[in-house]
Amino acid sequence: MRGQHDHVGFRRCSDRRHATNASRVYGGRIRSSALGSAAASGGRCDRARGSRYNGIRSNRVEMSMTLDSVGIIGGCGHAGLPLGLSLAKAGHDVTLYDIDKRALAMLAEGRMPFQELGAEDVLARHLGKNLHVSNVPSVLTNKDVVVCIVGTPIDEYLNPQVQRLLSLVDELATHLNDQQLFVLRSTLYPGATARVHEQLSRVLPGIDVAFCPERIVQGNGLAEIGSLPQIVSGMTDSALVRARRLFESICKTVIELTPMEAELGKLFCNAWRYIAFGVANQFYSVCAENDIDYYRVRRAIVQDYPRMAGLPLAGFAAGPCLFKDTMQLSAFFPNDFPLGQSAMLVNEQMPRTVIRQLMRHTDIKNKTVGILGMAFKGDSDDVRDSLAFKLRKLLIVEGARPLCTDPFVQLPWLERLDEVLSEADLLVIAAPHQCYAELKPRQPIVDVWNLLRLGGLLQSGAPAEASSGRDSPAHRTGRK
Ligand SMILES: NC(=O)c1ccc[n+]([C@@H]2O[C@H](COP(=O)([O-])OP(=O)(O)OC[C@H]3O[C@@H](n4cnc5c(N)ncnc54)[C@H](O)[C@@H]3O)[C@@H](O)[C@H]2O)c1
Repeated sequence: MRGQHDHVGFRRCSDRRHATNASRVYGGRIRSSALGSAAASGGRCDRARGSRYNGIRSNRVEMSMTLDSVGIIGGCGHAGLPLGLSLAKAGHDVTLYDIDKRALAMLAEGRMPFQELGAEDVLARHLGKNLHVSNVPSVLTNKDVVVCIVGTPIDEYLNPQVQRLLSLVDELATHLNDQQLFVLRSTLYPGATARVHEQLSRVLPGIDVAFCPERIVQGNGLAEIGSLPQIVSGMTDSALVRARRLFESICKTVIELTPMEAELGKLFCNAWRYIAFGVANQFYSVCAENDIDYYRVRRAIVQDYPRMAGLPLAGFAAGPCLFKDTMQLSAFFPNDFPLGQSAMLVNEQMPRTVIRQLMRHTDIKNKTVGILGMAFKGDSDDVRDSLAFKLRKLLIVEGARPLCTDPFVQLPWLERLDEVLSEADLLVIAAPHQCYAELKPRQPIVDVWNLLRLGGLLQSGAPAEASSGRDSPAHRTGRK
């Protein structure tokens, strides 16, 4: 496999030599003296290794930025890969370590395993130079920094599965070394960073552990990593200094928190969005039950009224992050988080709300219902935790025959759009792909997202003039 080897002869820039006062457990914001020592160290590391980056040095290198060799556990994932590409673009030597053989093989051929804006160009420029892929954990051993960004799911009872992360860390510890910075980047249950630090320190005393959460929107990670502020935290002063330095090489702004604050902060970001979508979906349901068009009301109340500007569109709020992170927060606050739990009930109820809209119009038993879009958000190929699948199941329970289509998703049972449009008695837009925006279906349709600009009520087909204003595409596709 191309690019599968590691750069074994690569000369390590031992950051720990430069991060003085290193081993104190970090209990608050770092003092400026420690940051000063990190800044001073940057130049020394650069000079030590500058010549190794001939041809791939970015402006950042010339600006005396320290370049690390970085291994990324979960490097082929939706969050790990954009990070790896960003670091490679900045000149770091990056190895993407993953167990997903399909994704590894695609990357080794210069193909992206999923949609990510601008990623293929960066991949083409860096693959085999300072970007490598591997399924061999020993590639992590001689890295300056190891980033861990695997999924951190909840179980079937909505409990966080911290043990999975701890087991993975345990399994990989023999491939790490005590001079490394170990960066956790997945969304974590509060306290998980401390647990990982404790566990690693037992076998690798002195290893630096940091938590620097990913906050990108899926599909546009490359742009967002560079433009969004990066929260960094470390279990020790030296971990914080090293994490700050790593992310300063790719991010515009770096903000420090303690690990626990950072863990909660990341969960707050996702729970906030999930609750906001829950509010919109609750309003939508109130309207739909009363034959009122949510989008007419929404348009009126947000127009020139900044205090309502944050009211989202309704839609299938799903995906691999928002639901599970709201539930992690709930578990942390021992299941006493009614706002989050209510948002979950409302959001997860949306497929049922749509079915009720259809049923108010007609008996759906034995009817063919076309589901347009199976991804969890617009113009994405990602079906993880998509509510379109729940809609499909509920339709079957009601005796209807769902016919599903999605231009971005490959599944053997999906139909072509023209077939669905020709066969279906009823339609539902389940993912707001822009390619559906100009459809003029003959059958009744429910369009929760108002993609067709006909409003949130069931449309009886052969649409007349648009009744509701067009909402911004960013509002539509921004869920994750
Ligand atoms: N997807 C996003 O845009 C996004 C944004 C912010 C935060 N996050 C967080 O990032 C984390 C990862 O999410 P994701 O969407 O990238 O998930 P993902 O499933 O796309 O990626 C995880 C990767 O880890 C790999 N992996 C799993 N077990 C492994 C192992 N034992 N060794 C090596 N590799 C292994 C998988 O093969 C996969 O490629 C989650 O905690 C998520 O909440 C994701």
